[in-house]
Amino acid sequence: MIIAQITDLHIGFPAKPGDPQNDQRLTETLDAIKALKPRPDLILATGDLTNDGYPEQYERLLELFADCDIPIHWMIGNHDQREPMRAALNIPDDGNDFVSSVLEFDDLRLVLLDSHGPGLHGGAFGADQADWLERQLAARPDTPTILAIHHSPVFTGISWMPVSNGNGWETRLSAAVAPHKQVKKLICGHVHRSVDAMWNDVPVAVCSSTAPQLAVNLTAIDADNPDNRPLVVNESPAFALHIWNGSYLMTHHMRTDHNNTLVKFEPFMQHTISGAMDH
Ligand SMILES: [Fe+2]
Ligand SMILES: [Fe+2]
Repeated sequence: MIIAQITDLHIGFPAKPGDPQNDQRLTETLDAIKALKPRPDLILATGDLTNDGYPEQYERLLELFADCDIPIHWMIGNHDQREPMRAALNIPDDGNDFVSSVLEFDDLRLVLLDSHGPGLHGGAFGADQADWLERQLAARPDTPTILAIHHSPVFTGISWMPVSNGNGWETRLSAAVAPHKQVKKLICGHVHRSVDAMWNDVPVAVCSSTAPQLAVNLTAIDADNPDNRPLVVNESPAFALHIWNGSYLMTHHMRTDHNNTLVKFEPFMQHTISGAMDH
């Protein structure tokens, strides 16, 4: 099972009026994913699909995926809006008014958890979401499960991207997940950087964005004092490739420029390759 995760597409964000930068970055990402061998079994888009959640932004999103024949599963981010997203992407109501779902496979489950809180930049995880998650995790307790969510429950050190903005959603999520030892990994987005961490006993892989990335600056920021620090940088669009091997989920953090080949497997490399495999 190979899962290509893309996140933070922010379709509709104009760097300049009329500038389709994020459209182009998404197209570049999809081209890179479609060229992979073997091809991923599915694409998981973990939220901030659009910049504002406007219906026309979802329509544009669908246009950009028009010639993508890999199954795609949509998740919601803080920049999205539930009703326009559901309507445009044909997502059924999960019974709780959330955009949550579970992908069931013989030996693996993907639980796609809605962490959107209207008006919130950070995550949300209320009683309804907790009830839904408990029911899903209790349904197949012996099946390895990957939890996917837009917001990262771990702080990445970028001080203007705090985890909770004080509402404590990540603490409640932690308590909800803790009894369910079949949760093998949490995958998420939102931070616009690739970051690995441990969250309680669960490994976390934060996928970087197809939209521009955030600058890494681990010093405190004063919101009242613009200090000219870089905030957003123009690195290549990124995605993650998750491979389930029956025991664990390994994650390759990918960039669309990863095929800028320096060395090919030509005869002069044969000795090096056979040595690497034999010793
Ligand atoms: Fe984002
Ligand atoms: Fe986000």
